Amino acid sequence: MSKEKLRIAIQKAGRLNEDSLKILKDAGISIDNGKEQLKATSSNFPLEVLYLRNGDIPQYLRDGVVDIAFLGENVLEEKGDDIVHSLKLGFSKCRVSIAVPKSAKYNGIEDLDGKRIATSYPNTLNSFLKKKGITADLHIINGSVEIAPNIGLADAICDIVSSGNTLFKNNLKEVEVMMKSEAILAVAPNISEDRREILNKLEFRLKSVLNART
Ligand code: PRP
Ligand code: MG
Repeated sequence: MSKEKLRIAIQKAGRLNEDSLKILKDAGISIDNGKEQLKATSSNFPLEVLYLRNGDIPQYLRDGVVDIAFLGENVLEEKGDDIVHSLKLGFSKCRVSIAVPKSAKYNGIEDLDGKRIATSYPNTLNSFLKKKGITADLHIINGSVEIAPNIGLADAICDIVSSGNTLFKNNLKEVEVMMKSEAILAVAPNISEDRREILNKLEFRLKSVLNART
């Protein structure tokens, strides 16, 4: 057998990490080290796992540092328009939405014109607003975006919504759903033939797991 290994990026910590490792396990792929280390290898499948930060993964795919990744569609929409979407994986479902304070009047998207919006998704938000003919002042924040209206930094926020708990706790209401997202298998633009063969085997196994889950 060839020594060639497929390199996969998995979110280091956060909502995708656990379900990503679970689907590999269900596909019969054992990953040796726990998530303590940033790199791990499978003992029974030609796979090497790199634990990376979500937002960095599209660039690693583009640079060919990793061949594939389990990643949210929301991240690819924001930073990965050249990356191939392979399978939908059915977990980490969320929405990318705009929310405003519960007390604010909201009659429609035109109410956001000229407003300040805090977000970690500037590209997605910009193209949405552009389509709607709205001009807003974007404040880019990497985390805890929902706090922005409460501290007077913004009139609205745009971030992912899953259970809705974070919006609720911060007295915000969801007013626009920009996209729906789930975890997918993303593939680098220039993957080698040898690794493509391993990928085909992995895809076959993942499809079987997904079929069994429905
Ligand atoms: C994410 C996201 C939202 C929240 C949505 O934040 O940015 O704030 O989860 O989930 P919910 O609707 O189930 O509450 P995360 O907790 O990952 O932290 P961060 O924003 O600081 O990265
Ligand atoms: Mg958050």
